[in-house]
Amino acid sequence: MLALSPTDRLFFLTGAGVSAESGIPTFRGVNGLWRNYRIEEVASPHAWRRDPRLVWEFYSMRRRVAAPAKPNPAHFVLAKLEQKLQDRLFLCTQNVDDLHEQAGSMRVVHMHGELFKSRCDRCTRTPFHDTTTYDLPAELPRGDCGGRIRPHICWFGEMPFELDRIFRALDECTVFIAVGTSGVVEPAASFAAHVRGRARTVYVGEEEPANVSAFTECHLGRAGEVLPTLFCA
Ligand code: OAD
Repeated sequence: MLALSPTDRLFFLTGAGVSAESGIPTFRGVNGLWRNYRIEEVASPHAWRRDPRLVWEFYSMRRRVAAPAKPNPAHFVLAKLEQKLQDRLFLCTQNVDDLHEQAGSMRVVHMHGELFKSRCDRCTRTPFHDTTTYDLPAELPRGDCGGRIRPHICWFGEMPFELDRIFRALDECTVFIAVGTSGVVEPAASFAAHVRGRARTVYVGEEEPANVSAFTECHLGRAGEVLPTLFCA
């Protein structure tokens, strides 16, 4: 059990490991997505310009995999803890699935976007809910302005969403907890170092992350098993 004081402010950073027990593959493990796909061919602005069909094929596959997935105990613990701590808990996820929301979390910050949203690549139309999948040779969608509809995802080379809010919350937190993230993708990989010295830094995951030296505590194991023992919300 993690000892918390009534004034503690918790910042959770979740990664693909949190959704692994729900059947959504991680990126860098043995069966990780980046073993079978090249980032620069499916998840970059360059890929979108060069071959939007291939990009949609990749995100259609990911929508199909994520659509039937259900939250696991890790998602439920975080949702219950948010109910209890309210705005003393900030949940920032790198995951693009909606399992935190399905579990009941109300204020999830998706810094890498959302798989079930799309937006126009030309105009400022607000990102909209979209579960469409494209089987080639489907006609790819266009908005009223003539721009292409693209996944609402932060690709490599793009700026993650809501960084101002995220850094404000990092500066206010007293406990930083990263769960199921390998600690290699910036800027999230530097969050622990950003708060270290001022806040406790806790890691929960199956193996030590690449940025392990930024953590003061490391609890190794599956998120769905370890989180309920650390926080009985
Ligand atoms: P990774 O696939 O890089 O790392 C997943 C981490 O979860 C690894 O450290 C695993 O050891 C751990 N893990 C696996 N199963 C687990 C379980 N059941 N419980 C706890 N931990 C477990 O995923 P991320 O670090 O989230 O970005 O990747 C960060 C970003 O890289 C993603 O958001 C994505 C990717 O490229 C974009 O697409 C922009």
